[in-house]
Amino acid sequence: MASLLNAAYNPETFRKNGHLLVDLLADYLDKAFTDPNLKALPWMPPEEMAAKCKEDFNTPWEGDMPLISFFEKIIANSIHLHHPRYMGHQVVPPAPMAALVELAATLLNNSMAVYEVGPFSSAVEKQVTDWLGSSLGLGENAAGILTSGGTIGNLTGLLAARQHQAPYNIWEEGNKNSVQLAVLVSSESHYSIARAVKIMGMGDEGVVKIPVNNRMEIDPNALERVYRNAINEGKHVIAVAANACSTSTGSYDPLEPIAGFCKSNNLWFHVDAAHGGGAVFTRKYKHLVKGIENADSVVIDFHKMLLCPALTSAVIFKNGDTAYETFSQKASYLLSQEKKGNWFDIAQRTLECTKKMMGLKIYALLKLYGVQLFDEYITHAYDLAAEFAELIHETPNFELAIEPASNIVCFRFIPQGIESEKLNTINLTCCDKIKEEGEFYIVRTTINEMVYLRTTLMNPFTTNKDLVQLLDKIHSIGQSLI
Ligand SMILES: Cc1ncc(COP(=O)(O)O)c(C=O)c1O
Repeated sequence: MASLLNAAYNPETFRKNGHLLVDLLADYLDKAFTDPNLKALPWMPPEEMAAKCKEDFNTPWEGDMPLISFFEKIIANSIHLHHPRYMGHQVVPPAPMAALVELAATLLNNSMAVYEVGPFSSAVEKQVTDWLGSSLGLGENAAGILTSGGTIGNLTGLLAARQHQAPYNIWEEGNKNSVQLAVLVSSESHYSIARAVKIMGMGDEGVVKIPVNNRMEIDPNALERVYRNAINEGKHVIAVAANACSTSTGSYDPLEPIAGFCKSNNLWFHVDAAHGGGAVFTRKYKHLVKGIENADSVVIDFHKMLLCPALTSAVIFKNGDTAYETFSQKASYLLSQEKKGNWFDIAQRTLECTKKMMGLKIYALLKLYGVQLFDEYITHAYDLAAEFAELIHETPNFELAIEPASNIVCFRFIPQGIESEKLNTINLTCCDKIKEEGEFYIVRTTINEMVYLRTTLMNPFTTNKDLVQLLDKIHSIGQSLI
């Protein structure tokens, strides 16, 4: 064999570098949890980062073990999710054992499209999606699939809704201009919901926004009005898409009355539970997803609140058969069934063909620690958010946007006597400065045209002291901007 190929596949090189990598990552974890000098975010403007990367790319590797210096470089230039002061976007610091499973899955690379290219991992996917359907209380006909992210999950759920609800066979006949299909969508939905509707060819007219109350939850009383208006405008409404919880403020829509509304009006009920669906595994916060058992489709991201590395999402259908109808297709080289197929050739039921062996991480965490791990993690994060809200109430010159329902807390620095436009500028600048300094990583959002700082308390090691110091830091930066 050619020498480069020999080198690329050499098991001993893999072994040596692998051992070094695991040692390096274990030391890194230790440091991320405990080293006060490590920044959560080694910030660098994009152009500077691109130039640094280009220079590195054009520099030849040196030494016997060049990969180790590459690993060090990756770590040094990445944001540190395991750092207790990481409070930015909704990405989980993965449980280290899930990352190890991911390494094995990556090397084995079983591609999952049909059973024979991923026998064990196909069975694992069935096991974890069946378990999830049953945990959500979706009933004995529930079944689902794993997808590479919640965005694909939402598209898959809404594709199924369209196929099931359209007044003609849209999969076979295509979109008909004479019928304007529409989905009723929370005005606080993640953008992937509206994007899915547009991908399906329904355009702006297909996205009908449902107003929210002052807690950013769908107002069930507004649903009827919005629905009637849509019908009066000649739209054929196929579904309602609700949040559990919303991205911006972490608000849970009242799923039970929305489910009732969908049932009475024969609409598909889709729940985007990408972030907050894990509440179902907790004893304390389970009530937040009451009514999810009545959904027709539910999306949950395991890489948000369920401790798995990205990407690992699930879309579960109350009636598992709907997924076959959504994608019924023959492909002589891969798919043989047309209508209802078997469970194990997973490509029959999903947008993706090749995909990663995603289920293994979930399966391993459940076997290792049990569902109690999710209960502990989510309960801790949601409790910490409630404590943070208390702290914000007690701290002068700070204002909470709304009481948090989850681990997403939005607030702002609000010194006396400053008019609202200036307050927006102060909070925006404050967020940028915190990012550039890198000690904490927080983000921002806009609610009713006011800028709020946004934290998602994803890290199980974040303490009350970190939160006190965050407010001190914001206060001192904010004061300097007045
Ligand atoms: C509520 C919600 N839905 C969907 C998504 C998209 O999920 P993904 O990033 O896994 O595609 C997000 C991402 O933040 C989200 O918060």
